[in-house]
Amino acid sequence: MAVDSFPARARKISANIGAHYVDKARKLPWRIPPGGNLPDPYHVWLSEIMLQQTTVGAVKAYFEKFTRRWPTVQSLAHAREADVLAAWAGLGYYARARNLHKCAVQITEQMGGIFPRKESELLKLPGVGSYTAAAITAIAFGERAVVVDANIERLVARLFAIDTPLPKGKAEIRTAMDAITPKKGAGDFAQACMDIGATICTSKNPKCPICPVQKQCAAFAAGTMEYFPVKPPKKAKPLRRARFFWIERHDRILLATRPPRGMLGGMRSLPDDGWAAGNDGHARPPIAGRWMVHDNILQHSFTHFSLAVDLAVYQDEKIATDRDSDIWWPLDNIAEAGLPTLYAKAVQWKLKEEI
Ligand code: ADE
Repeated sequence: MAVDSFPARARKISANIGAHYVDKARKLPWRIPPGGNLPDPYHVWLSEIMLQQTTVGAVKAYFEKFTRRWPTVQSLAHAREADVLAAWAGLGYYARARNLHKCAVQITEQMGGIFPRKESELLKLPGVGSYTAAAITAIAFGERAVVVDANIERLVARLFAIDTPLPKGKAEIRTAMDAITPKKGAGDFAQACMDIGATICTSKNPKCPICPVQKQCAAFAAGTMEYFPVKPPKKAKPLRRARFFWIERHDRILLATRPPRGMLGGMRSLPDDGWAAGNDGHARPPIAGRWMVHDNILQHSFTHFSLAVDLAVYQDEKIATDRDSDIWWPLDNIAEAGLPTLYAKAVQWKLKEEI
């Protein structure tokens, strides 16, 4: 259904969504209530980076932790990258944390601590893509921008029954979102659409009876809500193998710091067999010893592959290693090590197995 041929319908959609937000906006720690002052751009930027590929439920506690510890972009810029990475542990997609810190340094050192308001300027910052630039422009600065995330994609594809499969369909969806985005209050409007997408226009079992734009929805009229957005066929993920090494002495385990570039770069981890280089790991232990190997203790899913993990264990009070980079971390404080989820899962497996 062409959007341009329905300007009155587009206006109605826009008005109904706007009115819905006034009553029903979700209260989230980075938001201020609809119609009020504009939120702090630092809060908007931080939340939007965290919300890339991560759910609102998972982000809330991290947002609160970060803003308590680093209340301004300048304080975040002055933090050590390793501390930012450790505080990010568990949120996943760790390149975001490295870019977050880099971006804070750039804003602080080159822009006097002031975020740019134009999308074209925001797009030049590390970690800021077209979605995030539009969201910051609209939400933090109240300027008109067309914001499309996955929730909005689903809502708009259904409203206009856009059946071109993704990713090709994105251009049509953006045109439709442009047609319904108001001149004023584009930030509230975008967040209203996100809320409807997350709580009403859900992938499965959408709650159409309580939807403020049910009467304007082409998919509802045809009863085809769950058909949209049309996705490309799923590719099977390759399965790769890795081995992690548990090296324990005097109630401490040996941790490593991952190389600064590449997967989980700069994060603390268990020593491993180099699985991240694009192939299976080599499974050779870093030191000689009496190793006990537990096969296939867990599987972890990354965007482009799944990883099956073995854990090799060597516990001995006499283990000697003398590299400067060795970190002997106390086991009773392992939760503070800032391990990415993949390694934290292996640690949990080992600790449970001992009980
Ligand atoms: N997802 C991405 N940005 C969001 C926001 N500002 N509010 C709710 N969900 C979001």
